[in-house]
Amino acid sequence: MTSFVVTPTGRPLAGHVVAPGDKSIGHRALLFSALAATPVRVRGLGSGADNGRTARAIVALGATTARDGDELVVRGPGLRHLSAPPAPIDCGNSGTTIRLLTGLLAGQPFASELFGDESLSRRPMARVIAPLRAMGATITGKDGGADVTPPLRIAACVERLRGCDHALAIASAQVKTALVLAGLTATGTTRVREPWRSRDHSEHLLAAMGAPLTVADRAVEVDGDGWDGRLAIDRIVVPGDPSSAAFLVAAALVAGVGDGGVGVGPITVNPTRTGFLDVLAAMGAVIERRDPFTYFRGEDGATLVVAAAPDGLRGTTLGGELVVRAIDEVPILAAVAAVAEGETVITDAGELKVKESDRIATTVAMLRAFGVEAEAQGEGLVVVGRGRRPLRAARVHAEGDHRIAMAASVLALVADGPSRIDDADNVATSYPGFLAAMTSLGADLRAEP
Ligand code: S3P
Repeated sequence: MTSFVVTPTGRPLAGHVVAPGDKSIGHRALLFSALAATPVRVRGLGSGADNGRTARAIVALGATTARDGDELVVRGPGLRHLSAPPAPIDCGNSGTTIRLLTGLLAGQPFASELFGDESLSRRPMARVIAPLRAMGATITGKDGGADVTPPLRIAACVERLRGCDHALAIASAQVKTALVLAGLTATGTTRVREPWRSRDHSEHLLAAMGAPLTVADRAVEVDGDGWDGRLAIDRIVVPGDPSSAAFLVAAALVAGVGDGGVGVGPITVNPTRTGFLDVLAAMGAVIERRDPFTYFRGEDGATLVVAAAPDGLRGTTLGGELVVRAIDEVPILAAVAAVAEGETVITDAGELKVKESDRIATTVAMLRAFGVEAEAQGEGLVVVGRGRRPLRAARVHAEGDHRIAMAASVLALVADGPSRIDDADNVATSYPGFLAAMTSLGADLRAEP
């Protein structure tokens, strides 16, 4: 089991880091390429283990992948010609892999089975299975009390699925995408409505590939009738990952910015992903978006340049729609809140309880390990910022959660001695280059077995 040891240097950070490929878009680039009728060149994929799970899954479904320089060439069997996987598909730690595959495989004429690691085996799947069952799919899993959990068995779909009109109780891009993929194989119209708009990468990419898809404000609709099932695109450029960049931006805010500044990018600045930048701005951070450009329609890019918070950081409130746009950044935002002046109150974040760990509990425990006053409160948490008062060196157990391990590493930069973060292996699921990136900015971070 890997631990990170972080020794505060007392020096501010400086340098430029190239952001790794976005994990969310990487999953979609791989999976959708396998559904295409023509070869697709995918550029900019990150090397995280989660994307690796999706890459192996598409091979199990009949695609081939080959490296060509910095591109991966995916030759898919196409949406209507996937083959039965020879063995159960291992989704590892990746919720996106298992949920997207469940939607795709629900309408296929062969049976399949999906499973994952211990953390994934605890995660709720009823949110995706219930609407798929209503469309005619037969899916069973382990009954984990009120919910269904992996492993999932998906029966061969004998008759085509039927479209549905489904209102999601919770905004979820994974469930939305799963239902859209099922809708591509279904008869009639499949409509998915969300209480808030979750990340919309699937909509942009599938529309660019010719899917019969329309998007209204908080609804997406797929019309499976009168469509030949053909998806095509020559090349997909995977943008840089804002969720990985967020840790480096936060590190610069926490440890301070030295001569030459701290830059991270380029990343997608799709507004469904940049809630954390709005939150940090409300806390007093000044983060410039430099060199704007467009990756593809719907995904604009920029490089983030962090200036030290000129008047210091102050606490804020975070709830509602903003939480959806910053869902994966709550642990690192809570870490920044710990060194701000005043309280930060985070609400409407119940979803965090069913991520890779119970992130309300693990975030609170991580903050307390550094001597920060924090408390779980209903569907959220409260953090009492310590301002410039020093943090206590900590020993943190990351509970196998990559984002908790990285958030703790950032806070450890300003503790009063070396900190140790145990169970940090899963940082490799999203950001294998995290340690090297932090080191290149001047932090003293090393991994120990
Ligand atoms: C993701 C969507 C989000 C996010 C996850 C990745 C995606 O989950 O937390 O890390 O790639 O679609 P939900 O859709 O369940 O909110």
